[in-house]
Amino acid sequence: MRSNSAPIDDDAVRDDVQNVNGILDEVGSVQNENGITDEVGSVQNVNPTHHASESGKSSSGWALFTSLVDARGGRLAVPSDIVANGTGPSEACGVLVHDDNERFLRSYSQVLQGQVRLLYLDPPYNTGYKLRSYNDKFERAEWLAMMRLRLQLVLPMLAENGSICASIDDSEMPYLRILMDEVVGEKYFVACIAYERSGSAGLGQSGAILNTKEYVLIYSFDKRQLNDVGNTRPIDKEVMRRYNKVLVDEGERDLVAEITGKTGIARLYKHSGICIHNISIRKFDLRRDEIESVYKESFERIFRTQNVQKENTFQNDVIARLQKDEFYSLDYVPARGRYKGEQKTLYYWNGELCAWLKDSSALTPDGIVKRNKLTDFWSHGEIPKADLANEGGVEFSRSKKPEHLLFRLVSLCTEPGDLVLDLFSGSATAPAVSHKMKRRWIGVESGEHFRTCTLRRMQNVLDGDQSGVSKLLQWRGGGSFRYLD
Ligand SMILES: C[S@@+](CC[C@H](N)C(=O)[O-])C[C@H]1O[C@@H](n2cnc3c(N)ncnc32)[C@H](O)[C@@H]1O
Repeated sequence: MRSNSAPIDDDAVRDDVQNVNGILDEVGSVQNENGITDEVGSVQNVNPTHHASESGKSSSGWALFTSLVDARGGRLAVPSDIVANGTGPSEACGVLVHDDNERFLRSYSQVLQGQVRLLYLDPPYNTGYKLRSYNDKFERAEWLAMMRLRLQLVLPMLAENGSICASIDDSEMPYLRILMDEVVGEKYFVACIAYERSGSAGLGQSGAILNTKEYVLIYSFDKRQLNDVGNTRPIDKEVMRRYNKVLVDEGERDLVAEITGKTGIARLYKHSGICIHNISIRKFDLRRDEIESVYKESFERIFRTQNVQKENTFQNDVIARLQKDEFYSLDYVPARGRYKGEQKTLYYWNGELCAWLKDSSALTPDGIVKRNKLTDFWSHGEIPKADLANEGGVEFSRSKKPEHLLFRLVSLCTEPGDLVLDLFSGSATAPAVSHKMKRRWIGVESGEHFRTCTLRRMQNVLDGDQSGVSKLLQWRGGGSFRYLD
């Protein structure tokens, strides 16, 4: 079980207990998921540290939470072409709350204890500007106290395999990082993502260095459960320049050596009658369609050659036996790596190892995409945002996050059905993406733009909004959510 290193404000906890008991008293009793009525009006011993042993998927906590929302006047939103009859689907997958997030946390941290798989934080960055929609100018100490309190209150809500992703920019990143290391726990730190918010074009030209990035601080209580999301992008001219050979025919092969390795005998074969074509990418822009269709047709057989690492004595031993201008294959069982223990065949051409395009790419209906491991630098090209202003069908000047950014965070940290909590919802990017990705979600927003922006966007999502990640996910609309205004 993890423990929080930060002390909790005792007054806050006392208030918390009183508030939760107050709300539960309003409801009196609720039915649990088996239809049995539970007395919930007397919750005792609220422990501020995290004690959930659940993975966050327990539906009873969620059912209790939505009962409390209903008891406080929660309303149901359904797609516009369905007439809400007041009862609606019993399993609404999201809740929007128009309130200060501190009050939300004090009201619901007990019932949602251990439920949240992903907490997304996108607070005012404290840039020093008074923005149209909300205040973004605080004394640093005041801003840090605001964040500390919210982190302390929200931690008990996180599941044992929960994660936190916090968006921030240069104004407060170092301070927030230290605060989160202290309150959440440094050992849970995963990465500080530098996310390229914009290209340099169109930014003012004052100053020697243009600021084009911001950050996402990621913490996870079980790093092994983060998903290997990877970063895919269509192969470009540079990749094609490197991977430009096609093995059309590998001919006949004859055994030329048996080499003893760590996993047994490896057999080396020399090939005769091979046929290798080079793919020309000359006049790429003019011939682009033709070149791309050659790559698609030959996908399985495209390769490049590469040197092996100096430390790999086995591979260097094999290479020392090869003649230039000849083609070889080696049947062997790797002693380590991704294919450890499996029978594999490696190929060599011209004294170098062959690397196959298909081993690091995938052929999709839209063409070939190259798969790379996710790094902690997320470039402008990786997170499309050309249509950001229109995403969700609402305006939220300067503060709206791209849906593709949230798609990546939600993919990394959650599975379908998990609960995503967004404490600073703004234009509801995180709830919108979570809904399209079939996660449960809670969005909290205190601003006056709640109805015109936050709620409006989520209604658009139910109605089949086609912006952001909708096409990627083949989103057609549907579902329902509750809201408290
Ligand atoms: C940076 S914006 C969030 C943008 C959002 N992620 C999006 O993509 O649209 C911060 C939001 O937090 C809201 N906010 C600030 N303080 C809050 C509080 N104490 N409780 C709830 N919301 C708050 C602001 O009104 C603003 O809408």
